[in-house]
Amino acid sequence: MTILHIDASINGENSASRAISRSIVDRIRTAQWGDQVIYRDLAREPLPHLTLEAFADSSVLDEFLAADTIVIGAPMYNFSVPSQLKAWIDRIAVAGKTFRYTETGPEGLAGDKRVIVAVSRGGFYEADNAFEHVKAYLKPMFNFLGIEPEFVHADGVAVGPEQREAGLANGLAEVERLAA
Ligand SMILES: Cc1cc2nc3c(=O)[nH]c(=O)nc-3n(C[C@H](O)[C@H](O)[C@H](O)COP(=O)(O)O)c2cc1C
Repeated sequence: MTILHIDASINGENSASRAISRSIVDRIRTAQWGDQVIYRDLAREPLPHLTLEAFADSSVLDEFLAADTIVIGAPMYNFSVPSQLKAWIDRIAVAGKTFRYTETGPEGLAGDKRVIVAVSRGGFYEADNAFEHVKAYLKPMFNFLGIEPEFVHADGVAVGPEQREAGLANGLAEVERLAA
């Protein structure tokens, strides 16, 4: 089994999404001994914005297609995913490879993959909050590719030290439940 581990936070070792995505990889790795882990740090090595020419380079798509499980650290920046992560998604959503249009509508072609997303958000967001565009974007995006993503959450990270600790603890507890 191949695990693709993606991080996007600009906060280095202070990052909640990095701590949780690492914990997810550690836990599922233990459960599936012998896994190969490919790591891509989109903050340290950003992908350029998509261009037509960039479609000719399928290396990011090939890395995604070769993975069985994809673990993504997804911080909320300005109510959405970091543009670094969006640039990655722009390379994996490719017609004929990860989705196709049929007479009856779009069809996802990547349904054999497991996607687990560690979401970290500065505040607290109910599911129907109009400002929430992290899960509200990633869920339908991966659904479009045929995948039902799983989410773990660290919320209130920017509210204060206590809320940060509580948010992190909640995220790590959700990882334990997910791995169980
Ligand atoms: C550039 C930037 C933009 C942010 N925008 C938001 C935001 O719109 N809403 C929010 O709740 N938190 C926002 N935050 C707070 C982060 O979501 C929060 O600190 C989260 O923990 C970041 O993930 P990380 O700890 O993995 O870096 C922002 C943080 C940064 C650095």
